[in-house]
Formats: sequence, structure tokens, C-alpha cells
Amino acid sequence: MKLITCCSFKGGAGKTTALMGLCSAFAAQGKTVALFEADENRPLTAWMQNAVESDAWDERCAVFVADELSLLEEAYLRAEANGFDYALADTHGGSSELNNTIIASSEFLLVPTMLTPLDIDEALATYRYIVELLVAENLHAHTAVLQQRVPIGRATTSQRAAADVLSVLPQFSMPMYERDAFAAMKKRGMLHLTLANMKANPTMRLMVRNYETALGEIEALGAFVAAMLEA
Ligand SMILES: Nc1ncnc2c1ncn2[C@@H]1O[C@H](COP(=O)(O)OP(=O)(O)OP(=O)(O)O)[C@@H](O)[C@H]1O
Ligand SMILES: [Mg+2]
Repeated sequence: MKLITCCSFKGGAGKTTALMGLCSAFAAQGKTVALFEADENRPLTAWMQNAVESDAWDERCAVFVADELSLLEEAYLRAEANGFDYALADTHGGSSELNNTIIASSEFLLVPTMLTPLDIDEALATYRYIVELLVAENLHAHTAVLQQRVPIGRATTSQRAAADVLSVLPQFSMPMYERDAFAAMKKRGMLHLTLANMKANPTMRLMVRNYETALGEIEALGAFVAAMLEA
């Protein structure tokens, strides 16, 4: 089982959404995914409930509450014993012993950030924090910044400047764009299943293309993560 974690000091950076997208991408490829809920606000538990109601929850995936160290340990052991392909951990903003433990146990660390000066500062601080923690513990994990909520269309001068600052760090070659399909996952459920439901519903045909585009993008991100983990 490979543990992939989304982290950032900044709240609202797009951690949970990136994670929901990756979960959908892996499940669409037939992989099994354990979701570690390390945010006491329980966004993943709410996601699963909404998704089940919308008939868009993939049974290959399961949520494990892990917002305390003892629960995290138990979740990890159970998920590993059950042979999940991937575990995805959703952390709360800021630093804590729980976050440190998750970071130190991860094979892949993903730092989502929006392209504003404040967000960029926080992303750099988060990246540095992760690297220092890994070095101190003599560990290795892939770490990459993910540009999140990037507007479709031409970037502003300030967004281009922000992207330049980030270019010193390892990054995903592709951003996660600001899309309704991504924002709606928390209500609608897994992207690949929402798409399948839409295809079966003639009144929703117009949205199919948007969802296909969004799913294609997030699958590319999932493939990149999977390839890095294989290498
Ligand atoms: N790619 C995207 N396209 C559109 N909306 C997005 C995208 N990513 C995130 N959002 C929206 O931005 C808001 C914040 O995202 P999210 O909850 O994923 O951030 P977070 O880092 O998990 O926040 P928190 O620190 O509160 O846990 C949400 O309303 C979400 O729907
Ligand atoms: Mg979150």
C-alpha cells in the first residue's frame, strides 16, 4: 500500500478536492483506495455520505477516521491488512504531531497551492517544512507542488509571477484547473461515477463533455503519481 498525502499550512488550498479527484482517478483504474480522514472537520466522511446518496461512491474505496494518532495507526494497519493499493490522507491545515506522523509515513507528498502571493508563501513554507522533517528523520518521499484552482484561459501577470516563484520546486507538469466538476465532487461524489450517471441521463448530456475533460485531467495527475511511485 502506498500512502499519498495532501498537505499545506494554508487552509482552503485545495487539499481535499485534489484528494477526491485522485481517489476517483485511481478507482476509475480499478485500484482500491483507503481514505484516511485526518481532518477533524471530516470532509471525507461527508463526501462518502453525499456520494452514496447520489449513487456515485465506488465500493473500491473506504474512509477511515484517523484524526488522532491512535486512530491513524489503527487505520493504517487495517488498510494494509485489507490489501488496499493506495491510501490517501487528507490533513488539516497547519502543523501538528498528527500531520508530522502522516508526512513521515508517506511515499508521496502533494502540496496544492493557488497562485496568489500569500498562497505561494505558504506553499514554499510547507514544502520547506516537509523537506526538513524528512531530512531530520532520514526518510525519502516524493514531494511535488500542485498548482490548484488555476483559471482556464490566460493567467494574470500576478499569477504568472507566482508560477515563476514556484518553478524552483518539483511540480506536476499539469495544474488542476478551476472547474465546476471538481468543486461539485463534494456534493455529487466520485467523478468517474458521476460521469457514468450523467451519460445515462438524457437531461444531463450537456455536462458530459465538461466531466470528461475534468476526469481526463485528474487521471493524468493520477498516472503521474503512480509512475513516480513505481519508479
Ligand atoms: N480545482 C478546483 N476547481 C474548483 N473549485 C475548487 C477546486 N479545488 C478546490 N475548489 C474549491 O475550493 C474550496 C476549498 O477547497 P478544499 O476544501 O479542497 O481545500 P482544503 O485545502 O482541503 O481546505 P481546508 O484547509 O479547509 O481543509 C472548496 O469549496 C472547493 O470546492
Ligand atoms: Mg480539506
